[in-house]
Amino acid sequence: MQHDKVLILDFGSQYTQLIARRVRELNIYCEIHPYNKIPTSIEAYKAVVLSGSPQSVRGDDALHPDLSEIRAKKPLLAVCYGAQYLAHFSGGNVAPSNTREYGRANLSFIQKEELFFDGISEGSQVWMSHSDTIKTLPTNGVLLASTHDVENAAYKIEGEQTYAIQFHPEVYHSKDGKTLLKNFLVKIAGLQQDWTPDSFVEETVADLKAQLKNDKVVLGLSGGVDSTVAAILLNKAIGKNLYCIFVNNGLLRKNEFSSVLKQYEGMGLNVKGVDASARFLDALAGIDDPEQKRKAIGRVFIEVFDDEAHLIKDVKWLAQGTIYPDVIESVSATGGPSATIKSHHNVGGLPDFMKLKVVEPLKALFKDEVRRVGASMGIDAQLLGRHPFPGPGLAIRILGDITAEKVRILQDVDAIFIDGLREWDLYDKVWQAGAMLLPVNSVGVMGDERTYEKCVALRAVESTDGMTADWVNLPYEFLQKTSNDIINKVKGVNRVVYDISSKPPATIEWE
Ligand code: XMP
Repeated sequence: MQHDKVLILDFGSQYTQLIARRVRELNIYCEIHPYNKIPTSIEAYKAVVLSGSPQSVRGDDALHPDLSEIRAKKPLLAVCYGAQYLAHFSGGNVAPSNTREYGRANLSFIQKEELFFDGISEGSQVWMSHSDTIKTLPTNGVLLASTHDVENAAYKIEGEQTYAIQFHPEVYHSKDGKTLLKNFLVKIAGLQQDWTPDSFVEETVADLKAQLKNDKVVLGLSGGVDSTVAAILLNKAIGKNLYCIFVNNGLLRKNEFSSVLKQYEGMGLNVKGVDASARFLDALAGIDDPEQKRKAIGRVFIEVFDDEAHLIKDVKWLAQGTIYPDVIESVSATGGPSATIKSHHNVGGLPDFMKLKVVEPLKALFKDEVRRVGASMGIDAQLLGRHPFPGPGLAIRILGDITAEKVRILQDVDAIFIDGLREWDLYDKVWQAGAMLLPVNSVGVMGDERTYEKCVALRAVESTDGMTADWVNLPYEFLQKTSNDIINKVKGVNRVVYDISSKPPATIEWE
């Protein structure tokens, strides 16, 4: 079954992915492409959205795509920079704003377009974020709405299905933003809202069957949401021809290897658990640099995985749980390459190294969509709601070099913290939590004895994508009980601190 598709042209706005998520929440499929790489198969898209941008249309290097295959030929919604772009290059005028135009504003209709504004009331709150403003509309522009500070807040082009808005319908603070997107996509552009988790599962399974036929596929399970959902989809398509490998690198949470392995077996997966803890610990011995740790873990993972894959006869494919944010080609706001803060993709070398064909059943989905697809296939809610956990595991939460004893201490501390969050019904209110073992000893006193033992830091953050994060204001009573439990139960720890730093500047992991 073919679904109607929307093309989102990205001019580098921080909100572009939000536009895509709102469109998909309407059960409409969409893709993001850079403004200067318009797909040649443009006829496959039934509507186009232009995103915002940190750039100015007045700059010498203004982003200036050729829209000749789109303008007046397809329904077009231009947001923020997009709206200014249409004005500036089509007979209108854009100038710097005199007043600050950030944050809350309220719409006043000048011409209440029946379809575009259906269900939206006079005074509806919208969210602005721009420093230029449209002074004069483009040729054939018709003003639809203003706000107190922005005269040309919404306009259309006479004789075209082209609409432009200065505000951001994709952010939650634009109260009727989703209604407006729906009006444009469904009522004006006529798209069907039939892209649902169930239809995704049905079609992906059919596609995987056709693509993989009787071939054998190997997949590395991590215990995380993405690899699990990918495995269940593939299992539906090819059953026992899917060979899952779950590697214990010795740096997982306490008891996680055995409990997650059991869970996988319970789901009917053809899974092999490989305990390679000793191999990883050996490779990590004496390394205290975070990037070197990541590299060592990545290298050993490839070796272990490759050894195991070779035991499977005639395997042709490597399946990966890659998701959409990993493959979106993004437009850099600065025009330059972004600096590598941490090399997160620690198993990035796998496909090339193994010379297998790659299958990525989730590469069109955002994280929240992966969860919804998982739920629609009946995967346990607790598994789908698990906090993110880094590939190098506790290795990047033990500052300095790694020993089996340090791993044991941190696993015990982490388990008390995480179990406590669950008991206190706080787990789902936190995006990610964990404990760090610090490379400092401090003096304590226990039963009249002087101690000189380890200090651990607890970190719990709220976030949506891990790019920015803030610390969670956990109840004092919870912190008090957790600290007490840790100090009393975990031998070798006499001090607990709570990390109250936001990201930026402090990253979520301490290494
Ligand atoms: P930072 O520490 O950069 O983390 O604020 C953001 C998110 O990424 C995770 N993270 C990693 N994940 N390999 C991974 O698979 C890594 O090397 C790695 N480093 C950080 C981190 O847990 C958080 O969710």
